[in-house]
Amino acid sequence: MTNNLFLRVVILIGFSIGSVLHGSLVAASEKAILDPNARFHPVVSNSGMVVSQEMIASQVGADILSRGGNAIDAAVATGFALAVTLPRAGNIGGGGFMLVHLAAENKTIAIDYREMAPASAYKDMFLDAEGDVDNLRARFSIHSSGVPGTVAGLIHALDNYGTLSLKQVLQPAIDLARNGFAVSVDLSESLLARKQTLQNDPASKGYFYKADGSGYQPGEILAQPDLAKTLGRIADKGRAGFYQGRTADLLMAQMQRNGGLMSLQDLANYQVVERTPVCGDYRHNRVCAMPPPSSGGVHMIQMLNILEGWDLRSLGHNSAAYLHRLVESMRRAYADRSQYLGDPDFFPVPVAQLTDKKYAALLRGQIDLQHASRSEDIRPGLSQSTLGSALGSESSETTHFSTWDQWGNVVSNTYTLNFSYGSGISVAGAGFLLNNEMDDFSAKPGAPNGYGLVGGEANAIQPGKRPLSSMTPTIMFNRADEPILATGSPGGSTIITIVMQMILNIVDFDMSVAEATAAARIHHQWLPDSVFYESGISVDTLRLLREMGHQLDDKTGVLGSTQSIQRLGVESPQREEIEAPQREEIESPQRLGVESPQRPVIKSILYGTADYRRAGSGVAIQRQSPKD
Ligand code: DON
Repeated sequence: MTNNLFLRVVILIGFSIGSVLHGSLVAASEKAILDPNARFHPVVSNSGMVVSQEMIASQVGADILSRGGNAIDAAVATGFALAVTLPRAGNIGGGGFMLVHLAAENKTIAIDYREMAPASAYKDMFLDAEGDVDNLRARFSIHSSGVPGTVAGLIHALDNYGTLSLKQVLQPAIDLARNGFAVSVDLSESLLARKQTLQNDPASKGYFYKADGSGYQPGEILAQPDLAKTLGRIADKGRAGFYQGRTADLLMAQMQRNGGLMSLQDLANYQVVERTPVCGDYRHNRVCAMPPPSSGGVHMIQMLNILEGWDLRSLGHNSAAYLHRLVESMRRAYADRSQYLGDPDFFPVPVAQLTDKKYAALLRGQIDLQHASRSEDIRPGLSQSTLGSALGSESSETTHFSTWDQWGNVVSNTYTLNFSYGSGISVAGAGFLLNNEMDDFSAKPGAPNGYGLVGGEANAIQPGKRPLSSMTPTIMFNRADEPILATGSPGGSTIITIVMQMILNIVDFDMSVAEATAAARIHHQWLPDSVFYESGISVDTLRLLREMGHQLDDKTGVLGSTQSIQRLGVESPQREEIEAPQREEIESPQRLGVESPQRPVIKSILYGTADYRRAGSGVAIQRQSPKD
C-alpha cells in the first residue's frame, strides 16, 4: 500500500493513533485496499459483517450481530436461514465444515459436521451386476444420502462458541419458512432447471412447485410450513428435535418408503468432530483451512508451497507463464488427492508430508517452465520423497458464508447437499431435502464421481466413514497472527483451486477482496487433463498456453462463488516490530475508544465481497448504535 492510501484508510478509521504509527505501519503494510483506480470495490464496515450467497440470509446474520450476537451466533442464524432461502445448497439435510477463529483465545477450530455413511453402507453398494458404478443410484436414490450433520454441527458451534440461545438464532429461519419469502430470480430459475429431478419425488414436488406443477415466478411467495415445524422442533429440543422424535420418525418413514439404509441408530450415532485446522505459511501470511476429511486445506497448502518458490507477481496476473505454474501445481496436487486423501478416522492421511515445503520443492523441481506435462505421466508423488473427460456435468451447488464480529471473532463456513437440491428427495412431512453426499466416496477405484474426481482405497465406502470433500473454508492471518481474510466457495472439485486463487490475488497481486473475487479463474484437477477457464482470460494467453501443450476446455462457464471478508486494521507490523509505548497505545481499548466485553481489539475495517457469479448473494453489515 502506498503511504497515501494508507493514510486514507487511517483517516477513514478515524483513529487518533494514525500519525503515531504511520512510520512503522507503512513499511509493513502490503495492500492497496482502497485504490480509487480499482474497477471493483468491496462493501465497507467498521463493525460486524456477514457475506453469503443469499441476501435475506446475510441480513438475518447481520441482524444477529446488531443485537449483540457474536460471529458464531450470526453464522448459525445464517446457516439455518439459508436452509430456507437457498434450498439448493443451504440445508439441514446435508453437512459441512466450519472454521471458527476465537479472538479472545487467539485460537482457530475446525468443526467437522460432514455426513457419515450409514452403518449398513458397504464398499460396493453402488456397483451394478457388471461391476460398473450405477450413477443414478449413487447420486439420485435414497442410498445417495449420508447421515446429515448440519443440525448437529450448527448446534455444536452455538453451544460451544455462541452467546445467544438456539431459539434466538433459529427464529428468523422459522419465520421465513412459515410466512414465506419472495422468490428470487435465482431461486425461480434453479427450481426450473432441476424440475425433472425434484418432481420425481412427490414430497419435493409439493414443497417446491405449485399444485399444478408449475414453478414459482420471481416475487411470488414461497412458504415451507413443514420445514418451519421441523425448525421449530429443533429450536425447542435442540439436537433431539432433528435426530430423535418426530423429525427422525419422518426421516425413517421416508427411508422405508424408498428402501433406504439409514436407521434411527445412525441418527443417534451422528458425531460432530472438532479438528485442528491445517495451516501453512505462505509468504508473510498464515493460511488455515479445513483438514481431512476435506482435501481442501491439505492441497491448497501443498499448491501454495509449490508456488511460493516463484516470484509470481513479476510474471503478471493471469499471464501464460503464471497460469502455467498454477496448472502444473494443481495437476500434481490432485494426483496426490486421488491416492492419499480420505477420512482420517479410517485412513492414515499423510497430512504433514503433503504439506511439507521440502516435498513442494521436489514437485516444483519437476515442473518444466516452458512445456505442459501430461497428466498420464504424473502419478501420486509421495513415494518419490523421503518424506475423466470433463468436469462433472451435474449441476452442482454448495454454499459458503463468512461472518466477522466487532470483537474480531471470525467464521468461515461451507456446507452442502452436494448437487443442486442434493438427491432431490425430501423427507415428506419434515420439509427438508436429503443430500447425495455418498457420491463423494470413491464408488470404485478409478471411476470418476460427479465432479470427475477419482479415488481409491483411502476414500472407499465404509460404515460410519465420511466421504472425502473438497470444501475449503479458509481463514488467513497476517504476520502478527491476526485474521485478515475469511473466504470459501462452492464448486465441487474446483473449490480448492478457486480459494487458492483468492489467496494469490490478495497476497501476490495486492488486490482488494472485490478485485480478487472479480478476477477470472482457472482450474485443473489432473484428470481430466484439461485446463478449465472462465471468460476473462485473454485469447492471447490461451494461445500461449496451447502452444506450451495445455489442453483447454472451452465450455467451463463460471468457477465457484466466493463469499469473503477481508480485514484491514492497524495490524500489519509484527508485534515485536512496534516500540513498546506505541504497542501499549495500539492495544489499549480505552485509548482507542473501543469498548469490548471480550479481548481488547485493535479496531479494524472489514471489506466484504459477495461473488456475483451466482445471483442473489450479498453483504450485510451490523447496524451501529448512535454511540458507535
Ligand atoms: O464436499 C464436496 O467436495 C462436494 N460435495 C461439494 C459439492 C459442491 O461444491 C457443489 N457445488 N457447487
